[in-house]
Amino acid sequence: MQTIREIDALRRVVAAIRRDGGSVALVPTMGALHSGHMALISEAKRHGSHVAASIFVNPTQFAPTEDLASYPRREAADEALLEAAGCAFLWAPSVATMYPDGYATTISVSGVSEAFEGAHRPGHFGGVATVVAKLFGQVRPDVVLFGEKDFQQLAVIRKMVRDLDLDVRIVGVPTQRDADGLALSSRNAYLSEEERIAARVLPRVLLEAAQAIREGADMDEALERARSALRAAGFDPIDYVALADAETLTPLDGLDRPARLLAAAKLGRTRLIDNVAVEPL
Ligand code: PAJ
Repeated sequence: MQTIREIDALRRVVAAIRRDGGSVALVPTMGALHSGHMALISEAKRHGSHVAASIFVNPTQFAPTEDLASYPRREAADEALLEAAGCAFLWAPSVATMYPDGYATTISVSGVSEAFEGAHRPGHFGGVATVVAKLFGQVRPDVVLFGEKDFQQLAVIRKMVRDLDLDVRIVGVPTQRDADGLALSSRNAYLSEEERIAARVLPRVLLEAAQAIREGADMDEALERARSALRAAGFDPIDYVALADAETLTPLDGLDRPARLLAAAKLGRTRLIDNVAVEPL
């Protein structure tokens, strides 16, 4: 597997794949790869003759108060994992290659970006949409895979692709979880042993609330019960536990269409997010 850091070299590699009739399925990441990312890589094999991964810890999607500096970086281990998984190449540009001096363009996807993560992390989705659009322009993939773990991110990207008529197919991959249900995340590495045990309450609470809502329980009560259970497990603050339209991410007061139950909360210094599907019966 080649690791490519310059755009010219990237273009040559992708052009050669296309000349031979191949197609490219891309998995964008920020590295510190775990089995969640690797599930995207395996799924990517079903969508392209060549699988590419990108690793770029994108500064523009982190607020100044967030964990950009401490975000785990493990490129050698990541390369070994990608190589073993049969990736054709890794695109790993530097910050200067991605955002040269004078860089001026930002993509903003209104509506779907606004609630939930958008409200709690101002500027985050602008940074995500911009870097993902740049990755599309750089790699020119046929298919790009994203995890449902970051459900709002997936919805933002789908909307951007539709609105900008981008010639790329987006595939969503179900959230990969540890045996106790906790969604795999690079940020789980920040959890202490005690916090890691408490963290399993998050998926459990979401599944319980989703089932209650599906079975017609009072929504406010079901959501409040979920918040109390999180509080009791030590989560603080709880940024949101809420139901949203599964496509537009508009907050919902009742289950009248396919929906997603979304949550974000902090355990110690670690902010965890998770979501589950809630289909009307
Ligand atoms: P990162 O957090 O590294 O995640 C890369 C991809 O892996 C995302 O599509 C994410 O949803 C997916 N993923 C992470 N954990 C997962 C899990 N447990 N199950 C399934 N998929 C999982 O998301 C980003 O990076 C960045 O915002 C990026 C899209 C690369 C833009 O910078």
